[in-house]
Amino acid sequence: MDGNGRWAKKRFMPRFFGHKQGVDALVRTVLACADRGIEYLTVFAFSSENWKRPTEEVSGLMGLVLVAVSKYLAKLADRGVRIRIVGDRSQVSDKLRSAWEQAESSTAHNTRITLSVAFNYGGRWDIVQACREAIAAGVAPERVDEALLSGYMAMSYAPDPDLFIRTGGEVRISNFLLWQSAYAELVFTDCLWPEFGDAELDAALAEYARRDRRFGMVKTGAAATAG
Ligand code: FPP
Repeated sequence: MDGNGRWAKKRFMPRFFGHKQGVDALVRTVLACADRGIEYLTVFAFSSENWKRPTEEVSGLMGLVLVAVSKYLAKLADRGVRIRIVGDRSQVSDKLRSAWEQAESSTAHNTRITLSVAFNYGGRWDIVQACREAIAAGVAPERVDEALLSGYMAMSYAPDPDLFIRTGGEVRISNFLLWQSAYAELVFTDCLWPEFGDAELDAALAEYARRDRRFGMVKTGAAATAG
């Protein structure tokens, strides 16, 4: 969800204003995905590296998340959204941790769409924590394979993403879902996150539909063969 700061700057407003609009774009996008039958949406809300931002921006973001949970939780729950949080919770405040727990427990029964919020998350962190969990569970080295490690990843409850969208014009993955995005189709857009909505989502889905997904196979005519 990149581009909040630039969106605000263009309007001579503080960065926080951009993040605030970013929350509205998130709610809009979750509902747009649900309307289109998309069952899983995962958003990068706060990376392991975002702690390096100025203290007032970090605390502003933490406060914003608390406000967003109290403002939108009932609406999202009502619209069939199941919320899951992925990331290292040990570093966030007790207040935020209990807001996450409330968001997860009050939506656990929903099945229309799962919104996973990656918060204090990093793709490399996820791989490391999965290895640690496997070791702690006493898994023997010869039993470690891709399927086994996938089961220890923070998002083991969800299928791997088909489509990976980055807003804000940067063309990199920035440590998001490194393991899970191995075969995701990547779409980069200049659209700044607060402006993201139905039209941009549909454009990304149309781009996805044009892609030729091979998963490492070679296509010969209409038939796909292992390559
Ligand atoms: C990146 O834009 C955005 C973030 C670091 C924060 C995204 C967070 C939200 C939209 C709020 C999430 C809220 C909930 C409830 C999960 P940037 O600041 O890097 O923008 P810039 O690249 O233009 O400076």
